[in-house]
Amino acid sequence: MQDKVIIMVGTTGGIGTALTRQLVPIGAKLVLAARNKVNLATLAEELSGEVLTVPTDITQSDQVNTLIQATLTWCGQIDVLVNAAGISILKLYNSIEL
Ligand SMILES: NC(=O)c1ccc[n+]([C@@H]2O[C@H](COP(=O)([O-])OP(=O)(O)OC[C@H]3O[C@@H](n4cnc5c(N)ncnc54)[C@H](OP(=O)(O)O)[C@@H]3O)[C@@H](O)[C@H]2O)c1
Repeated sequence: MQDKVIIMVGTTGGIGTALTRQLVPIGAKLVLAARNKVNLATLAEELSGEVLTVPTDITQSDQVNTLIQATLTWCGQIDVLVNAAGISILKLYNSIEL
């Protein structure tokens, strides 16, 4: 993964954070994306490798375009997109309200 440019959407969640923490130490360049800026900054501070934070709501196409352009400006390429964004609901099936 050395120098691979990886956009990690949902980087501050359970799956995204676990993947991010694995990929940065082996030389990948991570673009950290999620909506909450504070959580993004906290994660970025923890990481010692090359990272770029781009607050993004992936339901908004203009923000997705900004994410892509920011990545290309930063590194000139996109090798991998991980979409780990979503909502985890840890409840019994019968108690879930939709
Ligand atoms: N954990 C599991 O065992 C498991 C198993 C199967 C499937 N999944 C699915 O995999 C996905 C991730 O799971 P998880 O456990 O890592 O979830 P999580 O801990 O709730 O994290 C979700 C991540 O997605 C981000 N996010 C949510 N909506 C977003 C949006 N509109 N735009 C950009 N980022 C957004 C959140 O940050 P912000 O809120 O700051 O945007 C957060 O970083 C979920 O859809 C879940 O249902 C999880």
